[in-house]
Amino acid sequence: MPHQLQEIGGYARMVDEQLKNLLPGRQPLGLYEPINYTIALGGKRLRPALCMLAARTIGGDATKALHPALGIELFHNFTLLHDDIMDAAPLRRGEPTVYVKWNTNTAILSGDAMFVLAYEQIAEVEPTVLKAVLTCFNKTAIEVCEGQQLDLDFEILDSVSIDDYINMITLKTAVLLAASLKIGALAGGANADQADHLYQFGLNLGIAFQLHDDILDVFGEPEKVGKQPGAIL
Ligand code: IPE
Ligand code: IPE
Ligand code: MG
Repeated sequence: MPHQLQEIGGYARMVDEQLKNLLPGRQPLGLYEPINYTIALGGKRLRPALCMLAARTIGGDATKALHPALGIELFHNFTLLHDDIMDAAPLRRGEPTVYVKWNTNTAILSGDAMFVLAYEQIAEVEPTVLKAVLTCFNKTAIEVCEGQQLDLDFEILDSVSIDDYINMITLKTAVLLAASLKIGALAGGANADQADHLYQFGLNLGIAFQLHDDILDVFGEPEKVGKQPGAIL
């Protein structure tokens, strides 16, 4: 296990480095500054690291999953820009959210651009697996929107059943961790069975991950969590 943890840290650093050099000198600054600000604030880079680890785990070359890994992290960051508007969240990664530091229109548009940049990176995967990777990514992206809508719907309810909550967090969060593993596996040359097993593992991991995040949202200290706690949003 320590070996895998070391590896995952190495992939996270590789992704971080690549992202920070992705958009040098792009104009207009009003669009790209918020994107570079978001990228510079880092984050755990968990999804892209899992993506590369999956390629390696099935015996492939981790760097074959680098571009889709970058795409997945850009997609994740895009969802955060829009999520922070929806949740009226003042802090992300310990710093002001994009819609607070700039404004809501900027956060919408910079987020949209990140979604397109994500596709640019995904499209760089080897042509033999591009169709399978895009099918998985597209299904995931729409499910994240479905999960976000359920989250918004639940805000006005007095109570939500455990099953409905699990379904909502599966869609808004877990499917992206699952897809990160599946896409990495596919990029590394996995067969459909291997890719699906890793997807199932990612779903369970993702549910646990969002449960943990929601517990921190109630009990966490802002200095440690980097987000404003207090409401499960
Ligand atoms: C935040 O994800 C959104 C959730 C699904 C809880 P992360 O906790 O992975 O955020 P960063 O990228 O590390 O900041
Ligand atoms: C984030 O959910 C899920 C997506 C962005 C799709 P949350 O709203 O629970 O995550 P945080 O707490 O803002 O990071
Ligand atoms: Mg939120």
